[in-house]
Amino acid sequence: MKTRIEQLKKKIEQFTAQTPRELEEFRIAVLGKKGELTAIFDDFKNIAAEQKKEMGKLLNEVKNMVQDRLKNQKEMFDSSADDVLVPDKTLPASAESIGSRHPISITGNEIIEIFTRLGFAIADGPEIEDDWHVFSALNFPPDHPARDMQDTFFVERNPDILLRTHTSSIQVRVMERQKPPIRVICPGRVFRNEAISARAHCIFHQVEGLYIDRNVSFADMKQTLLYFAREMFGENTEIRLRPSFFPFTEPSAEMDVSCKICGGKGCNICKNTGWLEVLGCGIVDPNVLEACGIDSHQYTGFAFGMGVERLAMLKWQIKDLRLYFENDVRFLKQFETA
Ligand code: DAH
Repeated sequence: MKTRIEQLKKKIEQFTAQTPRELEEFRIAVLGKKGELTAIFDDFKNIAAEQKKEMGKLLNEVKNMVQDRLKNQKEMFDSSADDVLVPDKTLPASAESIGSRHPISITGNEIIEIFTRLGFAIADGPEIEDDWHVFSALNFPPDHPARDMQDTFFVERNPDILLRTHTSSIQVRVMERQKPPIRVICPGRVFRNEAISARAHCIFHQVEGLYIDRNVSFADMKQTLLYFAREMFGENTEIRLRPSFFPFTEPSAEMDVSCKICGGKGCNICKNTGWLEVLGCGIVDPNVLEACGIDSHQYTGFAFGMGVERLAMLKWQIKDLRLYFENDVRFLKQFETA
């Protein structure tokens, strides 16, 4: 009997419970009805009378020991549960990192804000478009290279369903459902089948603008875009319009703004020209107005389109387009205060 008691003693000394459940299981295994200590107590009745004094003492010692141990460990679990429920309020709070707006959103919102101040409304349209809204209504000839698989993403190889390559498709949708005067800007995501590099991406954002009414002239367009350039790039900004070509405008132009980095003197951002190209624009081609059900003898209009990524690049001198899509917080954090 003595060795059984010694063994049990050792076991109790070595036992530490990891969970309250383990502790309860141990209690039952030692003190329960069929527990080890209970069994020894039962056998105690049968031992010789001269051994009773010594064994009785030993047994009581073990019983007290196990009860103390169970009590201590139970207290440990109870107090650690308290720690969870009642946190130390004097500890400094852990700093939550607050997200920031993406530079594309910041720039897009800024463009939208400038034009809404001029009375332009915001219009939207689908990203998955048909040939009519992206090309045909906009006076693209049937053999135009943009209609090629190399340049445009087609949906399920259907030449009629495609991802819009520009937000000019939204101006078609607006003209089809609204009578002039029309004054809208159309922000949105566009898609082109380009290899991804520092200067090109297959997904980017544009803001399109359209103004149609009686007697809208090239001078109106120039004044509107000058206002935009000065709001966006600073009040001393100058603009320059270079002749260009787009199927949907005639005449067409490309607008440059004076380089705000070097003040027009020439630097590596403006490639020593003193000018930065920011958007395409022009007088809406009468064919486009007619395709959308607007009488080109009564109405004229101007349109323009710009790339948001490009404007953000100029604003913050971002050198690589891929940074916009990588979600690297080291890049994004820099716009927290913008
Ligand atoms: N859609 C043109 C592009 O994606 C941009 C553009 C140019 C839009 C001239 C216009 C415009 O409305 O008049 O490059």
